[in-house]
Amino acid sequence: MVKVDKFIHDSIEKIRKDIKGRAIIALSGGVDSSVCAVLAHRAIGDMLTPIYIDTGLMRKGETERIKTIFSDMNLKVVDAKVNFLTALKGQTDPEKKRKAVGEAFIREFEKDARKLGARYLIQGTIYPDRIESEGGIKSHHNVGGLPSVIDFEGIVEPIADLYKDEVREVARALGLPKEISDRMPFPGPGLSVRIIGEVTEEKLDVVREANAIVEEELVEQFAPWQTFAALIEKGTGVKGDVRVHGWIIAVRAVSSRDGMTAESMELPWSVLRKIESRITSEIPNVSRVLYDLTPKPPATIEFE
Ligand code: XMP
Repeated sequence: MVKVDKFIHDSIEKIRKDIKGRAIIALSGGVDSSVCAVLAHRAIGDMLTPIYIDTGLMRKGETERIKTIFSDMNLKVVDAKVNFLTALKGQTDPEKKRKAVGEAFIREFEKDARKLGARYLIQGTIYPDRIESEGGIKSHHNVGGLPSVIDFEGIVEPIADLYKDEVREVARALGLPKEISDRMPFPGPGLSVRIIGEVTEEKLDVVREANAIVEEELVEQFAPWQTFAALIEKGTGVKGDVRVHGWIIAVRAVSSRDGMTAESMELPWSVLRKIESRITSEIPNVSRVLYDLTPKPPATIEFE
């Protein structure tokens, strides 16, 4: 994108023109919603309430991180962990899980929007989200859910025409910390799409720890477009002298331009071995670690 400053100026003007009342935005801590929150805050100041919903499906330390970074905005943090786990209980189908998370978001949002008297919703939808949802690949929950159900006067999507790398450029120009501008994408439904089958608290604890280890080992050193761990199922292993039925964790690291296609990264064997060793020794009840070689297509980046 050639004219970042012009984009910023024009979107602030447009937000000011489109929003004639109190507005809310769901802040996830990712680069998309953060950019939108800053643009909207510059446009309408305290008429904006950013809401961070702690779904319990977030990465390790995420909630504390968000509170610190956005402490100068009117940030509202909602603890909705129990609601999300309840909504996901018994759900094994990937699309139903996505819808369940989307609906739990809607319910939280409706409550908060009503309390605040907010008539406008700002969303960090970007171009690839629209293409993939319209193409019927997956229902990205920030596109498929909120707008149709909540009776807002207006939905504003300031970065709906941008690709991810363009959003990052805007983030840098807005002065957001590198921690946000260079942040890997993280899906709206959170860790629920990194657990095959039903989501439980135990699986969430395992996959959250595994994600933290993978990020520690790979993000700085290899700057992948996206890297994470997913929990597959249980398999037989042996720990000490005892046979165990432990979790299988898959590690994924991809390079990509915009998430529409992706290549599995060729990582040094020693690094992969270190990740395996840390995951199996630091997380109880994990007995096997795999590395995913599949490009997109035929796989998607996430496991569900
Ligand atoms: P896939 O797995 O479809 O992912 O190859 C492409 C990019 O989109 C992210 N992703 C999502 N983001 N809601 C989101 O906001 C979703 O439901 C969702 N599913 C996937 C994924 O992490 C990758 O960056």
